[in-house]
Parts: sequence; structure tokens; C-alpha cells
Amino acid sequence: MTVKSKKYHISGERLEELQQIAEENMFMHASQLNDWRGKLNIFVKGEGVWVEDAKGKKYLDSLGGLWYKAAGYGRKEIADAVYNQMTQIESSPSGSATISQIELAGKIANLYPEKSSRSFFVSGGAEAVETAVKMAKKFSILNGKPGAYKVLSRRYSYHGGTAMAVSLGGAKTADPMGPTMPGAIHVTNWNSYRLPYSGDPVDVAIKCANEFEEVIKHQGPDTVAAIIAEPVSAAFGIQIPPQEYWQRLREIADKYDVLLIADEVITGFGRLGEYFGPMNWGVQPDITTVAKALTSGYAPLGAAIATKKVADAFTGGPEETFTHLITFGGHPSACAAALANLEIFEKEDLVGNSKKMGNYLFEKLLELKKYDIVGDVRGGLGLLAAVEFVADKKEKVAFPASAKLAQKLPKFLFDRNIVTFRAGDIISICPPLSITKNEIDYLVDAIEDSIIHLKKDLNT
Ligand SMILES: Cc1ncc(COP(=O)(O)O)c(C=O)c1O
Repeated sequence: MTVKSKKYHISGERLEELQQIAEENMFMHASQLNDWRGKLNIFVKGEGVWVEDAKGKKYLDSLGGLWYKAAGYGRKEIADAVYNQMTQIESSPSGSATISQIELAGKIANLYPEKSSRSFFVSGGAEAVETAVKMAKKFSILNGKPGAYKVLSRRYSYHGGTAMAVSLGGAKTADPMGPTMPGAIHVTNWNSYRLPYSGDPVDVAIKCANEFEEVIKHQGPDTVAAIIAEPVSAAFGIQIPPQEYWQRLREIADKYDVLLIADEVITGFGRLGEYFGPMNWGVQPDITTVAKALTSGYAPLGAAIATKKVADAFTGGPEETFTHLITFGGHPSACAAALANLEIFEKEDLVGNSKKMGNYLFEKLLELKKYDIVGDVRGGLGLLAAVEFVADKKEKVAFPASAKLAQKLPKFLFDRNIVTFRAGDIISICPPLSITKNEIDYLVDAIEDSIIHLKKDLNT
């Protein structure tokens, strides 16, 4: 699918020059030079779910950037909002605010289940997590638990790349950094495909949630400030728990006077078919962290959203001050981008589309289960889904590294005009919430075609 060359398309010497500069002077995140040397994808244009590379080839972005492109590419109204903010006042003196920051705090409170919530703006997801955790620890101190410094999270979760967030995340692949945050304790994560215990899935989910209670009792409730978890863990392969899981987390947090933090950096703002994920289960967390879809990636912005109960603790005198500060947290132009982005959400009912198209996508993906190498398909709660491949479907045995799925699948998908990230044992799907039925058909056809190609390649 090559389109006629436009002014933003480049080729020949200029393209080679850019590849060389990148090769010599640039780090790419979460990779090493040999992964992309001489073949770095350079994109120059985007519209809706589509992106165009430097040579004019079009691809469907099946992961919405890195889980953030909710309103899709090329929204001029967001660019205009940023331009207007920047040309009016790009940032305000310390200790003051701009209209865009105030309006955004009001807008979020309006969309949030608890209307009297308060937002602490930051620059991205990890900072939102750091903010939420520091807030929870200080809240505990101010509420008669001065020794509460422990934070419980789940193995195989992801909460960001900064030191505290890495301590809370449970990935085995994180870079070693010596001792992690004292008081970071991990429990079993929920996995619907490979249940961590035998039994009925709902019972197992409750058992997993109860591990938080066991740790709190064992450590002493006075030492624990918070529980943090993603409503649906994308890092662990799109793991959707039964509603009883989060309901049980809420009960445990209440019983032991521990704050419940929902890390909604991926799921916040419509990804799970509601503005906020736990709304699906009637659960109100004490603090919610958001980033990505808040601006649909048009500007870097995150927030820790605190309920009134939590926020009110930071009112009084010097003792009650939350001294946390991030210079560019809640940058006015990013807030302007977020406001314009959320206006699109409302105008086009993107959250409704997430629910509707999420169901359609899930139904279509389920058809792929006919292939012997497709072990599981997960989805059906908004526009977040996964296809998991196995060498042995009956025993749910993963392919060995020698099958090279992580090298082959991204290429097979790319050859079919689908751009994704880290497809391997699992293809995660997180398209813009504006995606249409036809575009989902295109995407699922390309995935199916890639599966057929993979089967031939693997001789299965
Ligand atoms: C659940 C979750 N929390 C936090 C983060 C960190 O966000 P950021 O990369 O914006 O710092 C991520 C990033 O993917 C995430 O998935």
C-alpha cells in the first residue's frame, strides 16, 4: 500500500543520513542497537488508526502507539489547542496555575465516579505511580499509621521505569538495579489462562486477592500503606479478572485501613469500555493513576487522582503539606491537549465505541481459536485484547525460544501493514478507540494471515 509521494516523505540519501545519525547518537527505549541498526522505522504522518512511514507506506497501528493513542492520529483540534495555549501563555510562574490546568482538573473530576476527586498532575505514568505511592505513605502518616511504608503489588505487573515503580512491578526482565524499594512486597498475579491455583476461576481469583490479606496480616496492618494493581494487566498479557477480584481488593483495603491504588495508566479513559476500569465492577479506588490516553499521546501528561478522603488529609498546616513537586507536571499545553482530547471523547462517544468495537474485536479474534497454535484469546472488556500462541494447546506449553516468535511475528504483521510492539508468544491489541468495524476486519484478517504464514514457517 504505497501512496504517491508527499512533501513529508523522504528517501535516498536523506533517509540514509537519518538512519546513520540515529545509529550513532540515539538510544531507542527497551532495545539495543543491533535490534534496529539500519532498519529503524521512521514514521512521518498519521491519521485515525493509520500511520505512514517515510517512504509513504501505510500501516494500521494495532497497539495505539504504546497503549495511548485513544483518539487516533492527526487530530488538528488537539494541535490547535496546544498552539493556542502556547501562544497565549506556555507556562505560568511558580505557585500559580493556568486556565487549562484548572479546567482539566474539573473535567477529570466530572468524568471520575467520585465527583469531588482531586488531581495531582505529572508528566507521565511512572511519575503518576510515584506520586500515588508517596501520597499513600504520607496519608498513612497523617492518619495514625506513621510506620506504614510497605506497598503491596503483584508479580509480573508493570508500573513504570523509575526506581520505585520498577520495585513495584514484578517483571523478571527489568534491568538489575541492586536493592529495590524497602517494603515492596509482591503477591500472585491473576492469570485467566494459566490459573495460578486449581479450582473454579472465581474462587481462584478470590484466593489471589486474599494473598494481599495474608501479607497484610503477616507484616502487620500498621506497616502497610497501600495495595497497587492494574485493573487489567497488560504487561502480563491482558489478564482480565472476574469482578469479584477487585471487589475483594476493596474489602481487604477497607478492613485493614490500607489505600487501594488502581494503576490505570493503560486502562484509564475508556480502554475498558468505561472511563475508568474499576467502574466495570462497581469499585472506587482511593487513588487512580492515569497518563497515556489522557492526551492520546499528543503531549506528555499524567495524574494521580485522589478521592476526597485522601485529598482532604493534605489540608491544614505545614505538617499536612504534600511537598512532592515535578517541574513540568501538568504542563499547561499538555493540559490543553488533554481538554481537547477529552472533548473528542465526548463528541464521538469513544468510550461507547470502545465497548461496542471491543466486543466485535473479541468475537472476531475468538474465531482464530480454530488454529492449533492459538492457545487463548482474551478480551471482551473494551478495546484491549490478546492472542496467545502455544506449541501444545492441550498442555498450554509455550513455544521454545528457538521458534523465534518474537522475531518472526512482528515481521509477518509488518509485511501485512500492521505495526505492533513486542508480538511474540502474545500479540497484544490496543488500537485507537476510534477504530471502525472495517478496520477491525482488516486487522484481524492480517493477524489470521500472519498465523497461517507462521504455521507454514514452523511446519505445524
Ligand atoms: C500500568 C502502567 N503503569 C505505569 C506505566 C509507566 O508509564 P510511563 O511509561 O508513561 O512512565 C505503564 C507504562 O506502560 C503502565 O503500563
